[in-house]
Amino acid sequence: MFGRSKNTPPVGSGSIEAGAGGGRPGRSLRRLISAVLLFGVLAAFTRPGQRATRAVARRLDARVECFTEPGSSTYARVFAPLFGRLYSSVAEDVARVLTSRRRHRLATIVDLGCGPGDLVVEIASRLKDARIVGLDLSPSMLLWAGRHATTDGRVRFVVGDAADLPFGDASVDVVVSTLSMHHWEDPSDAFAEIARVLRPDGIALLYDLSLLAYTPSEMAKIAEAAGLEPGDIVRERARGGLVASFFVRFKLEGFE
Ligand SMILES: C[S@@+](CC[C@H](N)C(=O)[O-])C[C@H]1O[C@@H](n2cnc3c(N)ncnc32)[C@H](O)[C@@H]1O
Repeated sequence: MFGRSKNTPPVGSGSIEAGAGGGRPGRSLRRLISAVLLFGVLAAFTRPGQRATRAVARRLDARVECFTEPGSSTYARVFAPLFGRLYSSVAEDVARVLTSRRRHRLATIVDLGCGPGDLVVEIASRLKDARIVGLDLSPSMLLWAGRHATTDGRVRFVVGDAADLPFGDASVDVVVSTLSMHHWEDPSDAFAEIARVLRPDGIALLYDLSLLAYTPSEMAKIAEAAGLEPGDIVRERARGGLVASFFVRFKLEGFE
């Protein structure tokens, strides 16, 4: 029953270069692996490599249409769940800064480019007294997010542009954002708006993928065009496990 079938080649037959079936990889496969490793090292550890990788990543990202259907549904169902760990560590950051500023009660928090609303849900579960607004340019993303709105208005979602915020001057305690900033058409207008709506003791924490995020020199130009000092927007590493290690955080404090 378990005997070798008539078609099974005898042990020791076949090509040494075959690579499959547990033998050593063939020469062309080894060359391919070396080339991929070399490319990976150059891309990760040299400046031209990093620049080229960033350019390719931005090009690919620009082709991803996630603001209309069916992209919004795919993003909500497939991609957003992959970032669950990021949302919980960002929500912890928001809770921590509000607690340290003694503003955790009745704080107003705005998530810019909230997409399907996963981060808003994480924040709302930690800060039961806060008012949280998710804002997004895409009505179809907000159809997904709207499921999480509360009837008392504590958690709500609005269609809007980060570059033209529907909030009063000095009215927001925390502006937060994940994975959205590199999509903003007018990042300097958005930063001018964020600076306008933040309370003097407020703070903006904006997270983006390192590969797609603005470099320090790009961010200095954006800050200047927004009427801010280049040093007002601080670029730092995001905290919180493996997923967060692929992200950077931009921090902007409110003004007196
Ligand atoms: C990749 S999704 C990220 C969604 C969500 N923040 C998350 O982390 O899952 C980017 C979102 O930014 C939104 N967006 C792009 N430009 C925007 C703008 N100028 N103002 C507000 N939202 C914007 C898009 O509609 C999209 O929902």
